[in-house]
Amino acid sequence: PGTRKNETFVGAIDQGTTSTRFLIFNKDGEPVATHQIEFKQIYPNSGWHEHDPNELVSSVTQCIEEAVKDFERHGHSRSSIKAVGITNQRETTVVWDTETGEPLYNAIVWTDVRSQNIVKELKARDGADKLQALCGLPISTYPSCSKLLWMMENVPRVKEAYDNGRLSFGTVDAWLVYRLNGGPEKNVFVSDPTNASRSMFMNLETLDYDQTLLDFFRLDRNKIHLPKIVRSSDPKAYGSLTSGALRGVPITGCLGDQSAALVGQKGFTPGMAKNTYGTGCFLLYNVGEKPVISTHGLLATVAFHFEGKPVYALEGSIAVAGSAIKWIINNLGLVDNSAKINDLAATVQDNGGCVFVTGFSGLFAPYWIDECRGTILGITQYTQKGHIARATLEATCYQTKAILDAMEKDSGSPLAELAVDGGMSNSDLCMQTQSDLISIPVNRPAMRETTALGAAIAAGLAVGVWSGIDEVREVNKVGSTRFEPIKSKEEAGEMFGRWSKAVQTCTGFV
Ligand code: G3P
Repeated sequence: PGTRKNETFVGAIDQGTTSTRFLIFNKDGEPVATHQIEFKQIYPNSGWHEHDPNELVSSVTQCIEEAVKDFERHGHSRSSIKAVGITNQRETTVVWDTETGEPLYNAIVWTDVRSQNIVKELKARDGADKLQALCGLPISTYPSCSKLLWMMENVPRVKEAYDNGRLSFGTVDAWLVYRLNGGPEKNVFVSDPTNASRSMFMNLETLDYDQTLLDFFRLDRNKIHLPKIVRSSDPKAYGSLTSGALRGVPITGCLGDQSAALVGQKGFTPGMAKNTYGTGCFLLYNVGEKPVISTHGLLATVAFHFEGKPVYALEGSIAVAGSAIKWIINNLGLVDNSAKINDLAATVQDNGGCVFVTGFSGLFAPYWIDECRGTILGITQYTQKGHIARATLEATCYQTKAILDAMEKDSGSPLAELAVDGGMSNSDLCMQTQSDLISIPVNRPAMRETTALGAAIAAGLAVGVWSGIDEVREVNKVGSTRFEPIKSKEEAGEMFGRWSKAVQTCTGFV
């Protein structure tokens, strides 16, 4: 079709846990070109999970090259791409030498639980109970802090760099921005609050590093370099791409992937919520301009910080969702691709009494049980592959139900409808189960690239591709599927009761 006169586009880098993508969106929020690369997952020990930081960068640059080719094949011109946004897996911890820009260790991924002993020790320290009110997160293996402390204790190069004042720490957004800007020479070293807050070093109210938090973790600001925290949408702060097909194009938006999905679902109004079924599954509920500190096992996080005041969310984080599907494909071989899980689960009427607690990395919200591991309960001679597939899909739906119950207690009001996206949301059976278990409608948009769209929106707003939030509300409006609850509340309650019992059974396993 070719680019119409004055038509503008925005690129979005989506650096996720298992793959990297680059998408190019038009003003209507439609992806017109895309490329995806799966990169290496490194599991050196049980419970350990790493990525090669250099491979993350090369996967991004390759995706950009290929997507731009695709874009041009459609007759568009690369000069019509006005800005690039970044969205990324959060908490994953990258360390590098400030002077050379070289990584000092593999990135430790958010799912990694090797810091369990450090976490125990942190929980016993004076002041441990005061942290959540400042940063919104409970002490667990999930945020970046314990991963960084593990590296400082166990990797001599990292400790040495710290002692010599050459240690740079960043989440994946900061690492990518730094490297895409050419590394140490330009030294563009920034992060946005939706990412920086996941380190546990950022104060939710000031949106800056907090001395009480740094002191608690015994980190000396003179020895460690932390990225400057800037707005999620900013025309200058993130620099620009210094090489490749989009050389010179500014990076003007940055959001952690879950915040990006909330933006992509246009969850701009307090009371709106989305659930993204990716590698993990994350429910974010917009609470407005004041953070709500949960007393029921949820996280307080920054939803986005565009112009004006920051907007906050309550978050329910589920560590394992799509990764359980990957596990039954790659490790058990029940089916050969994820699209077939729905069909396998549909070969049986129900879970046949099976409950799968997918606690591969412990259980996150609202339970926070680091010591839990994956367990399938209720297996008998009757159990078929279909029951296991069904129990795998249901595990995420049960945890979502537990999160929504906690959210209702924290926020004081029940949710009316849940917007969904991410890989597992493609399964009709899974979404119907979800609606049944939470007894409210589930709404799935036709165009489900909401995470990347969120990053594009953040970037596009900064350079005037969209004039403001009101214009963005009109983006990606066409078509959606609605799942209404069919099961009675009693039936749903019974299923959930069995899940809760199963969770208790798995507690304290490690
Ligand atoms: O907090 C981890 C999260 O950002 C990873 O998201 O999409 O890989 O499940 P995802």
